[in-house]
Amino acid sequence: MQLINNIVELRARLSSERSIAFVPTMGNLHEGHLNLTRLAREHGRCVVASIFVNPLQFGPNEDFDRYPRTLEADCAKLQGLADVVFAPSVNEMYPEQQTVFVEPPPIANELDGASRPGHFRGMATVVLKLLNIVQPHTALFGKKDYQQLHIIRRMVGQLNLPVEIVGGETVRAADGLALSSRNQYLNQAERSEAVSLSRTLQGVRQAILQGERDFERLQQQAVEALTARGWAVDYVAVRNQSDLLPASTMGRELVILAAAKLGKTRLLDNIEVRLAG
Ligand code: PAF
Repeated sequence: MQLINNIVELRARLSSERSIAFVPTMGNLHEGHLNLTRLAREHGRCVVASIFVNPLQFGPNEDFDRYPRTLEADCAKLQGLADVVFAPSVNEMYPEQQTVFVEPPPIANELDGASRPGHFRGMATVVLKLLNIVQPHTALFGKKDYQQLHIIRRMVGQLNLPVEIVGGETVRAADGLALSSRNQYLNQAERSEAVSLSRTLQGVRQAILQGERDFERLQQQAVEALTARGWAVDYVAVRNQSDLLPASTMGRELVILAAAKLGKTRLLDNIEVRLAG
């Protein structure tokens, strides 16, 4: 496995590769990332992972400075899984002030975008830059960041980028908590409570499978249940998988998404629901 920090060297290394599968990450890798990297091997002969904590996608009061940077440990985890790790500096990615951005679709202002203005614009911009730098045939993103994956698919489709986007299933801890680099911010009590987020989503899913179609009420009940347990809830939303707009009662492929804060830690989760018929 080769660790490369600069774009010219990376391009030279990849110039003769005919089939590249790419896993963009912000590092601090956990089993979710490693699973995606294993899946990448099924999609390309050369597997590239990137590690870059992208300042453009963090708001002024977010955790950019304290986001865990663990390059050495990450490279050790990627041994045998990736062929190349691209870990550029901020200056390598943004040698001049970035004044050109991807304008994401309107859905980027809802759900996570409502609490994190500018986040998806910064995310989409760096993903486009990374895709242009690596020029992979396939790029893989986790479904844990469901709205992110949706926006990347729209960007790739509408800008005619020659890359196939693959979504990897969310990897969970034994109790059901979705793996995330931010889980390590949780103290012991918060870690035990954190499982309530996925349990709440499971409860909403169960109610829908049993025929409940008053999605507003389900959302409200879920918010109230989490709030009563001490969470500060940004949203619990039942949406269509296809466009992430509020779910229609006729919809068959739905997704329940949530974001909520436990103490200072903001957690995200989602669960798909496929209705028969
Ligand atoms: O999901 C992430 O880790 C990041 O948002 C991504 C896609 C690597 C862009 O910085």
